[in-house]
Formats: sequence, structure tokens, C-alpha cells
Amino acid sequence: MAGSLNWGVKQSFRGYVESAGGVIETMGGAERAADGGFTFAAAPGGDLRLDADGRPVGRGLFVGNVRFEAHGGMLSVYLADPNIEIGPSGAVITVADSSARTHRMEIATLDLGAITTGLAGELVIPTALSMDGSRLLGDHYPPKTALDPVRLTLR
Ligand code: HEM
Repeated sequence: MAGSLNWGVKQSFRGYVESAGGVIETMGGAERAADGGFTFAAAPGGDLRLDADGRPVGRGLFVGNVRFEAHGGMLSVYLADPNIEIGPSGAVITVADSSARTHRMEIATLDLGAITTGLAGELVIPTALSMDGSRLLGDHYPPKTALDPVRLTLR
């Protein structure tokens, strides 16, 4: 099962929000990591695992939310409870996009062909922005823009 998910969304977006005098707030199972990214706690019920070839498959469920706010609230981006969903038709990160959690969207795709292993043995998976993710970040980055890699610990 999934131990934890570390994902910083996009380093330049975090830098931009903070240098614009905004805030980045984590709650409910999400924490700010030492590298400035976010760590999300695993939730029960997922089945993310390595298959016989050592590749991740299934769904990893995580909890926690991150709020980015700047420009007096004109910039307001919220994402919560990321899932890693790896199936036959692709590998994506989905999130709830409001605190009501009534709607989930695909924010990013995972490039399973480019997985590496991190220093602590975690899987490091490159990610890229999806169409809906582009909209969530205010249409400033086109779809397929590289985001921060996901760092996934399985246990
Ligand atoms: C009063 C409203 C806003 C002002 C004055 C403003 C100003 C700016 C400026 C000056 C930059 C260029 C920063 C740089 O190159 O370092 C920028 C970039 C950006 N803005 Fe805004 N912005 C506003 C609203 C928004 C909103 C509503 C969003 C929606 C999420 C947004 C998302 C972004 C993004 C994603 C970038 C690119 C950051 C990067 O990766 O370098 N901004 N904005």
C-alpha cells in the first residue's frame, strides 16, 4: 500500500505565490516538506502496489489540502485529497478542487516510462499538467507543462 505522497505541484508556482506576498497553507493531512513541496498522508482503501515487473499499479488515496492565495484573494487555488490512479488507460493525479470536495479533477499525468528511484528508495515519477490542471492554475501554463515529480513511498 501507499506510505506517503510527496508532491510540490510546481516549484515556480510556489515561488511566485510566496514572492507575491501570498500564502501557501496546508491542512488536514498535508504538510509542507523540507524542500518546499507537500507531503500527503495515505488514506485507507487504496490498492497501489508494485506489479511483478516492479511497476506501480492501482490507486493510491491520500488526504490533505493545500491552499494558495495571493493578490488579495484574486489568486485562489485549492487542491485536496490527491489520488494516484494507474490503470490500463494511463496514470494520473486527481484532486478535489474545493473544500466542499464535490468535484474531482485530473490535474496531472504521470510518466511511468521515466520512473527513477530516489535516495530513500521512493519512486520518483515525472508529471505534466493536464488540460483541467492548466485551468486550475489560471491558464498560465499550457497543458503538458512539466510539474514537480511525484515522490511515492510504498510499504
Ligand atoms: C491581481 C491579480 C494578479 C497579478 C497582479 C498577477 C501578477 C503576476 C505577475 C507579475 C507574474 C509574473 C511573475 C514572474 O514572472 O515572476 C505572474 C505570473 C503568474 N501568475 Fe499572476 N497575477 C495575478 C493573478 C493571478 C491569478 C488569478 C492566477 C491564477 C492562478 C495567477 C497565476 C499566475 C501564474 C501561474 C504565473 C506564472 C508563475 C511562474 O511559474 O513563474 N495570477 N502574475
